[in-house]
Amino acid sequence: MELKLEDFRREYTQAGLDRQDLDDNPLVQFGRWMDQTIESGIPDPNAMTVATVDSTGQPSQRIVLLKNLDDRGFVFYTNLRSRKAQDLQQNPKISLHFPWYFLERQVKVCGVVEPLSTSEVLKYFISRPRESQLGAWASQQSRPISSRELLMR
Ligand SMILES: Cc1cc2nc3c(=O)[nH]c(=O)nc-3n(C[C@H](O)[C@H](O)[C@H](O)COP(=O)(O)O)c2cc1C
Repeated sequence: MELKLEDFRREYTQAGLDRQDLDDNPLVQFGRWMDQTIESGIPDPNAMTVATVDSTGQPSQRIVLLKNLDDRGFVFYTNLRSRKAQDLQQNPKISLHFPWYFLERQVKVCGVVEPLSTSEVLKYFISRPRESQLGAWASQQSRPISSRELLMR
């Protein structure tokens, strides 16, 4: 199979990055760029890659939706029995990546994860559409399912 990936190239001609245009607070700057990403009209503007590392040092990544941003940091929701959650229980170091290459930019975040309070999680769960609530209940994340029928039931 020949993919000819070498032939994909383009000129990066959008505005450059100037220190004087950057806010001193990286979270404020991030919010500005998130607004621009939303305005661009791409699907799932809040999608980010979440990287974790398991007990053997093996990194792994997956797409997760950013659901909030405040002074404490970046908020996402996931199943606490998932592979990522198990990784993070053993090693709370985490990296997020926002691949906004269509705007000729990307944002990388490195830090440690902290669980949200039960009341915050419940508030979010209650706010979700019924189908999403059922999906979250039914899905044992990161594990194979024996049949589609079982999942649908
Ligand atoms: C567009 C998109 C959005 C997703 N959003 C979430 C999310 O917000 N939370 C989540 O746990 N999984 C989300 N997933 C599923 C994850 O990518 C992943 O498959 C799942 O969380 C299991 O990952 P793990 O086995 O590495 O823990 C999303 C997948 C896609 C493609």
